[in-house]
Amino acid sequence: MDNGARWRVETLGARQAGSVMSGGSIAGSGAVAAALCKAMETKDGRVLGVMAAGACGRSPALAGYLWLARLTYDAEIQALGVKPDYRGRGVGDALVRAACEAAERWQSERLLLEVRAGNAAAIALYKRQGFGVDGRRRGYYPPLAAGSGREDALLMSRAVGT
Ligand SMILES: CC(C)(COP(=O)(O)OP(=O)(O)OC[C@H]1O[C@@H](n2cnc3c(N)ncnc32)[C@H](O)[C@@H]1OP(=O)(O)O)[C@@H](O)C(=O)NCCC(=O)NCCS
Repeated sequence: MDNGARWRVETLGARQAGSVMSGGSIAGSGAVAAALCKAMETKDGRVLGVMAAGACGRSPALAGYLWLARLTYDAEIQALGVKPDYRGRGVGDALVRAACEAAERWQSERLLLEVRAGNAAAIALYKRQGFGVDGRRRGYYPPLAAGSGREDALLMSRAVGT
């Protein structure tokens, strides 16, 4: 699938629900497969995904997804995850770009998100896409591993349509 072409991001629906369910959860992405399938059915929710061609005639599999919610004035990224095998190839970048485009079609004013303060990869991705840090919620996230403490959330946003 890594042929130098830009990723094709699609809006996932009932047809891809099986791939989402069998793909399971992507660690650290903020959503489990069942929640994504539910989000696909809501009027103000959208699940964007990149499907990777299956090897040897197998059906396509989910490489990454982004769950976007429409709020009254803004839109919010609820979850983002790229499967470990597909990371570092521009899939996350393509998904966030597609979320910005979807928010623009909704005429949202801003695109919002929350991210663990220690998630350097995700923060770098968001900053590269024009997000800035608006604030910090102390101890917002539960510990990632036993023995570690709760983690702060960074609140980030960017204007839509700029
Ligand atoms: C964060 C995540 C979505 C990035 O997806 P990805 O497809 O690997 O990202 P891309 O290949 O599109 O990278 C785009 C940019 O993100 C940043 N980035 C991605 N991975 C990075 C890493 N490991 N370290 C530092 N920066 C990184 C870089 O700025 C990169 O641009 P560059 O390659 O030109 O340097 C992925 O690592 C992931 O699913 N992590 C686990 C779940 C998660 O943290 N979700 C975010 C919750 S808010």
